[in-house]
Amino acid sequence: MTALTLSTAAASGLRVDAIVVGVAKGAKGPVVAPGAESVDKAYDGKLASVLETLGATGGEGEVTKLPAPSGFKAPVVLAVGLGTVPEKDETYGTDALRRAAGTAARALSGSKKAAFALPAEDAEDTGAIAEGALLGAYSFDAYKENGSAKGKDAKGPLGEVALLGGKPRDKAYKAAVERATAVAEELNRARDLVNTPPNDLNPEAFAAVATAAAKEHGIKVQVLDEKALTKGGFGGILGVGVGSDAPPRLVKLSYTSSKAKKHLAFVGKGITYDSGGISLKPAGHNETMKCDMAGAAAVFAAVVSAARLGLEVNVTGWLALAENMPSGSATRPGDVLRMYSGKTVEVLNTDAEGRLVLADAIAKASEDEPDAIVDVATLTGAMMMALGSRTFGIMANDDAFRAAIHDASEEAGEPSWPMPLPEHLKKGMDSPTADIANMGERMGGGLVAGLFLQEFVGEGITWAHLDIAGPAFNEGGPFGYTPKGGTGTAVRTLVRLAERTAAGDLG
Ligand code: BES
Ligand code: MN
Ligand code: ZN
Repeated sequence: MTALTLSTAAASGLRVDAIVVGVAKGAKGPVVAPGAESVDKAYDGKLASVLETLGATGGEGEVTKLPAPSGFKAPVVLAVGLGTVPEKDETYGTDALRRAAGTAARALSGSKKAAFALPAEDAEDTGAIAEGALLGAYSFDAYKENGSAKGKDAKGPLGEVALLGGKPRDKAYKAAVERATAVAEELNRARDLVNTPPNDLNPEAFAAVATAAAKEHGIKVQVLDEKALTKGGFGGILGVGVGSDAPPRLVKLSYTSSKAKKHLAFVGKGITYDSGGISLKPAGHNETMKCDMAGAAAVFAAVVSAARLGLEVNVTGWLALAENMPSGSATRPGDVLRMYSGKTVEVLNTDAEGRLVLADAIAKASEDEPDAIVDVATLTGAMMMALGSRTFGIMANDDAFRAAIHDASEEAGEPSWPMPLPEHLKKGMDSPTADIANMGERMGGGLVAGLFLQEFVGEGITWAHLDIAGPAFNEGGPFGYTPKGGTGTAVRTLVRLAERTAAGDLG
């Protein structure tokens, strides 16, 4: 992955491919952002007007390249738009910096090294720039020309970033860069897992990746295979996986800290491919369904991040892995499954499979009596309809916990919005045959799915459900630090939640 360093060097003497500066949208045209004073000076203080002549406005996402001033060792200055100039006494904020750094890193793919001179006020800002650069420099080349980043179409990510103005000897700056590196590396690995084609990433393969990483980072790992799942009575996970030649798995990852006072359990939906099963998805709705394990990938990345950061909180990750396929052995609409919790579920639609695997994993996770359970899932098209493709929905059985997760997501720069769990929608899941059906009213389908999951949460346990169906997979063009394809959404929210919990912020 891209290497990061903090540097106090002057921009002029750096042998890099480009110097990155910030430009913002002022009332009377573009304004050069702080951090680039020496660069501006080398243009005789005319950088803003040069940029204006070139058509730059300072708008977010804008990239303008110009020849470096004479005397500079670097050939190019790249000005990245930061959006509107902040009000007096306010700063650009971590979110704008993270996105601008990502845009710049993307624009520099194929380059060896760049120096970033963006307006960082403190260690937190520097951490955000580091995170944005590492996330923006992502590329998925494993399937291009013999897996080489040098393939015809693949330029490969920016190799190295020097953060100018950073304080290499300051503890807070060093910690911020270390944190950004650990989280971005694990998040990019989650993206890789989402992008890996489903013929190569089945439940067994995912479990193997998780097992190897867990061993590397001192995380305890337990994998329940189809035999163990049968013995344990995991009817939901088995019912979803039974139509596939690749059998299901339930992976438990346990990170523990000797200083922990709290225990969080994260549960991820890990459908390595969702064809819909016998309720087969029509063509046009299944091309991207390798992304249906993005929840499990996010949980995996968050647990490994917590371990790498040595957070003083216990974090258990549950990966509910299955492939949803139609076949002669597949679950039929009309079948009744006996779930791990003992409840029976009438499967009315085999495409509502995520809630079935999650229900078993949530019930199992409840046995440890964690302080809270958070499940993460690409659960419903309805949530995508409601919130669009960049915002995930949060449902919970506790208002304060839902608000805490929303706060954590805002701090992390991952858009989310609180959603309700209206009791009256439960009626739609009444089944004449079983305790509950796996489908209810079409309207409010995302909330219906949340209400279904709530039935499997252990008594008295605080629980939240993140429906990431919209932001998990970017079908449009890249923006900011978000690439096309797998995005790694929810990783940073979970890590932030774990950090806040470790700090005692959650009671
Ligand atoms: N994995 C899908 C949800 C999804 C849709 C994720 C689009 C990402 C993008 C889920 O398993 C599903 O098929 N849900 C159904 C539920 C319905 C049958 C009750 C849906 O949303 O249509
Ligand atoms: Mn489905
Ligand atoms: Zn699904």
